[in-house]
Amino acid sequence: MRIYEAADYRGMSRRAANIISAHVILKPACVLGLATGRTPVGAYQQLIEWYRKGDLSFRETRAVNLDEYRGLGPGHPQSYRFFMQEQLFSHIDIRPENTFIPDGLAPDADAECRRYNEVIRTLGGIDLQLLGIGRNGHIGFNEPGRAFELETHLVDLSASTRAANARFFPDGAEIPGQAFTMGIKSIMQARRILVAVSGAEKAEIVMRAFTGPVVPGVPCSILQLHPDVTLVGDRAALAALRKTGARICG
Ligand code: PGA
Repeated sequence: MRIYEAADYRGMSRRAANIISAHVILKPACVLGLATGRTPVGAYQQLIEWYRKGDLSFRETRAVNLDEYRGLGPGHPQSYRFFMQEQLFSHIDIRPENTFIPDGLAPDADAECRRYNEVIRTLGGIDLQLLGIGRNGHIGFNEPGRAFELETHLVDLSASTRAANARFFPDGAEIPGQAFTMGIKSIMQARRILVAVSGAEKAEIVMRAFTGPVVPGVPCSILQLHPDVTLVGDRAALAALRKTGARICG
């Protein structure tokens, strides 16, 4: 595993964007696995800036997102489809038909999971999967305790995840209780994984993820078994990991 430390969120975002752009430049038709949440927003802004400058094009690139709330359609401001349009897709030249996110409104959840797995397979798998880490160790919506061998599936969201995500919903709005998520198996099949972390509140879980035992109670700990993981974090998020003596590049 490679670990890159940046001074702050901005530097971490720039480093993550650098790695993503390198993939797009070397393989324009690459398959990017993308994530939502607070962490990747800065990297997306950087990619948009490079696209606007003419340094980067996503015309051939395909994107598959990790997850989507069940019950929210693409026009819902808290849906992940909406987020991706707002934060990235509508600002770059990626073709809409090359962007994939589970359909939160699909009436048959099992059929939707099967369809999404087939989408990933038909694309030839994921070249680079971008991941944030939840404070409880989740990746995508794979909450602690879920089996490692699952592909896309429907999950009941934990109280802590719903509480953490309440900040994205207007006061009083109901947070969905379920979501579609790529499973740990789907994530682990990506050829490369890029984990982005920022802020002191992630320090403890980052340390447990990469130095603790690999256990379903800490879903992100499975990443220790992936052959090609790059972790980029700001100083605050990597502070506890650094104390363990982990080798960190500047
Ligand atoms: P965050 O979420 O980027 O908003 O911290 C990460 C996650 O929960 O996966």
